[in-house]
Amino acid sequence: MLLFYLTFLACLVVPSVSVKHDTFKTCAQSGFCKRNRAFADNASSISTWQSPYALDPNSIAFNDGKLSGTILKKLDNSKEKVRLPIIITFLESGTVRITIDEEKRQKGDIVLRHDSKVRKERYNEAANWAIVGGLEPNKGAALSNDAGTQTTKVLYGPAGAYEAVLRHSPFGIDFNRDGKTHIQLNERGLLNVEHWRAKVEKETIEPKEGEEQQVLQDTATESTEDESTWWEESFGGNTDSKPRGPESIGLDISFPGYDHVYGIPEHASSMSLKQTRGGDGGYTDPYRLYNSDVFEYELDSPMTLYGVIPLMQAQAKDSTVGVFWLNAAETWVDIIKGKSVANALSLGVAGKSSTQTHWFSESGQLDLFVFLGPTPKDITKKYGELTGYSQLPQASVIGYHQCRWNYVTDQDVMDVDRKFDKHRIPYDVIWLDIEYTDGKKYFTWDPLNFPHPDKMHKQLDEHERKVVVIIDPHIKNENNYHVDEDLRNKDLGVHNKEGSISEGWCWPGSSHWIDSFNPAARAWWKSLYQFKKFIGTAKNTFLWNDMNEPSVFNGPETTMPKDNIHYGNWEHRDVHNIYGMTVHNATHEGLIERKKGEIQRPFVLSRAFFAGSQRLGAVWTGDNLADWGHLRAALPMLLNQGISGFPFVGSDVGGFFGNPTKELLTRWYQSGTFYPFFRGHAHIDTRRREPYLAGTPYTQIITQAIRLRYSLLPAWYTAFHEASIDGSPIIRPNFYVHPSDEKGFAIDDQLYIGSTGLLAKPIVQEGAESADIYIADDEPYYDYFDYTVYSGKGSHTYKAPLEKIPLLMQGGHIIPRRDRPRRSSGLMRYDPYTLLIVLDKAGNAEGSLYVDDGETFDYQQGAYIHRKFSFNQETGILSSEDISTKGSKTAAYLKAMAKVRVERVIIVGAPNSWKSKTQVSIAEEGAKDSSKKKSVSLQYHAAAGGKGSWAVVRDPGVLIAKGWKIDFS
Ligand code: GLC
Repeated sequence: MLLFYLTFLACLVVPSVSVKHDTFKTCAQSGFCKRNRAFADNASSISTWQSPYALDPNSIAFNDGKLSGTILKKLDNSKEKVRLPIIITFLESGTVRITIDEEKRQKGDIVLRHDSKVRKERYNEAANWAIVGGLEPNKGAALSNDAGTQTTKVLYGPAGAYEAVLRHSPFGIDFNRDGKTHIQLNERGLLNVEHWRAKVEKETIEPKEGEEQQVLQDTATESTEDESTWWEESFGGNTDSKPRGPESIGLDISFPGYDHVYGIPEHASSMSLKQTRGGDGGYTDPYRLYNSDVFEYELDSPMTLYGVIPLMQAQAKDSTVGVFWLNAAETWVDIIKGKSVANALSLGVAGKSSTQTHWFSESGQLDLFVFLGPTPKDITKKYGELTGYSQLPQASVIGYHQCRWNYVTDQDVMDVDRKFDKHRIPYDVIWLDIEYTDGKKYFTWDPLNFPHPDKMHKQLDEHERKVVVIIDPHIKNENNYHVDEDLRNKDLGVHNKEGSISEGWCWPGSSHWIDSFNPAARAWWKSLYQFKKFIGTAKNTFLWNDMNEPSVFNGPETTMPKDNIHYGNWEHRDVHNIYGMTVHNATHEGLIERKKGEIQRPFVLSRAFFAGSQRLGAVWTGDNLADWGHLRAALPMLLNQGISGFPFVGSDVGGFFGNPTKELLTRWYQSGTFYPFFRGHAHIDTRRREPYLAGTPYTQIITQAIRLRYSLLPAWYTAFHEASIDGSPIIRPNFYVHPSDEKGFAIDDQLYIGSTGLLAKPIVQEGAESADIYIADDEPYYDYFDYTVYSGKGSHTYKAPLEKIPLLMQGGHIIPRRDRPRRSSGLMRYDPYTLLIVLDKAGNAEGSLYVDDGETFDYQQGAYIHRKFSFNQETGILSSEDISTKGSKTAAYLKAMAKVRVERVIIVGAPNSWKSKTQVSIAEEGAKDSSKKKSVSLQYHAAAGGKGSWAVVRDPGVLIAKGWKIDFS
């Protein structure tokens, strides 16, 4: 075992060129994937193929927005039919939920294996973890009378404008909106519920000499199915026992008329997903969804990665629809695109472009949500109503994070901190990786290298900086280590199939894993973060949960055996993709409860994730490589994550493995300044690469990139706020902002920041000195730095030598920023604002600003400022309007912010008629004499040499917390 561990470590420190394919299954090596693909092949190869599933019309009942019934599955060689209860709930939001279960797996039934018990029913608790609201049924949903005898039709959604047409036999559902079918279930007949069956031990005949062994088939159960992986499956030296036998669940979901589908993170692939069975992307396997520690992941691949969000959206001109497949087991998704619908029995419209998808999970119930859009924003909003929105984080974690594996002593940390100051580079958070612990025992400090964590925290706090420490869910298997002793003595760990604590290998060597499905384990885990228990941590300590897929070095596919047992007798197989979220969740709650009466917003970074993890903090794209390909791959991954309801994401800036060239490092910082989570990180074997080490001109250029982030923090924080109330992505792809512009649907290398109109196209090619930016509309776009005008739909070349970041401002927006460089975001709290007014072609602009204390939950009682700014060309007035809702803590907060002012207003695209204007007049809300207007000077700069005109008003004397009007007329 030790040898194994050493070999594994050796592999880690000497990066090889690419992922070890042998460690991870292909579809052909995964029993249920192979079976479901074979099922699909069979269906499409037989012209008379008919899905064996029918909805029994006599079983249908409809009440209060809920339709229930029974689907009957016909078996090949039996008159008996398998009964599958189906419930379709039409939700108030216009979303539809469909669950399919199996009658023969009753609640409470148990399958015995060795000394352990396994729940026989299909896993039905994924929703308990993922869903937090939005389940109210739509009472207005109604059965339609014109459905005929072959179908049942339900009218639902806004003003009953949506239609679900249920075909009885073979079973299928079409979802219609605006007279068109947008989503079809079981249109290709691939619904497949592997039903409960008892294991039949096959009788064998002893072979005579020279003959092969024969198996006697019971003719009643004789089947053509591949049974080889029903009860047991081996891979990479591990054998997975399956006490419940085959139990996968599959369904085809088609999007007629849709060319593009996005989502189902996490994959190092393009945002617009590729075909997996043919097509020119060259993918031969389905997209796989199975949280995994994929060492040196490969690019442009459907291979699974660290996290899973089974949400897919489809995009056509002016229409977005989506599906959310709520299942926590290993899942695969095949994608086919075509010009017409393949199945002759289809109810769909033939001869159009269409995307057909095929989903299958190893176990669990079928639980599917269907969204009819019609906009991308509707999908993120409605998905968020179900799974929650990303939390509004502490303001400091939107700043820059400095991480490496490892800062080796507390002195080292303090030294790095001082050097950032010396070089005037702002940063907010410094990170401690696993080496800060005493022998990889979490919740302890290395006594030699980190003797004074308190002093370290104190120095950082002087500039309002934070420390993140790592705590992983594997607990070192060691006597006299209080955390492991608790875990063992209180029986709070994950169990193996024999029913005792599961042991495996991770960073500390032999380890146990917390079973955070167990409420007692969660309560215990939360308590470990209390200041009085985790000695050496302070108010400015935040957390990082890594390796929570979970990563088990000697486990099958580097994770936990699927036949391990969790709390409630569920197999690991059932809950695998949720495990990481349960750890993340317990840590998040632990931070909230660290000290009674001192509640701060927590920050926890996780590597694994599932639908709902967005409520708990941030994630990053794991162990990337310091090469240009990985820099390029980050943007599509982050954009895809944002439209899939989890917008607080980033990638290791600089690349985790290997040493980046200075050019690559510089371009990565310029790109990273647009990652919602902006952190530099590096492997233990890489050379030091803190930004101040790069030297001239790199350090200066990187500093400019980080300062750009800091000056735009007001705009970023406003975008985070938006995400927290309606799920809008923090960085947005072209299709999200321009859902009518088909040409831009596949663009995933440029981004908009929130609703600010800022459009960035970071340079991700070695040696590149320009970028082609795609403009989707006929608004004027201005260079952020010098106001050069770019206009006209299509691609525009933007010159970008190393020191330049391609960044445009779309006309029509007002961007708030703060221009004084400081050491950390906390020190900018009372700094004045600059408002950048970028006029659209009609001469108007609009924007907003959200500000709060950036630390506590007081904003929930009104302690915040929310303003809407607008400029109207007809009146010539720029105004600041209050759009907040007041609460008990509003007045105190406004008092604290009372002196914060606007120090500059810049109007880009200022009209020609202002040429000779030198003064603007200002009226302030609450001024003693509101008729008495103050005059302030204006400087006008005419358009010249391709640059737009602009005007500036310095020190208008207006306050951020108050209403005012500046009259330019
Ligand atoms: C994993 C993480 C990486 C971290 C390392 C040591 O590889 O992905 O970020 O530095 O573990 O904890």
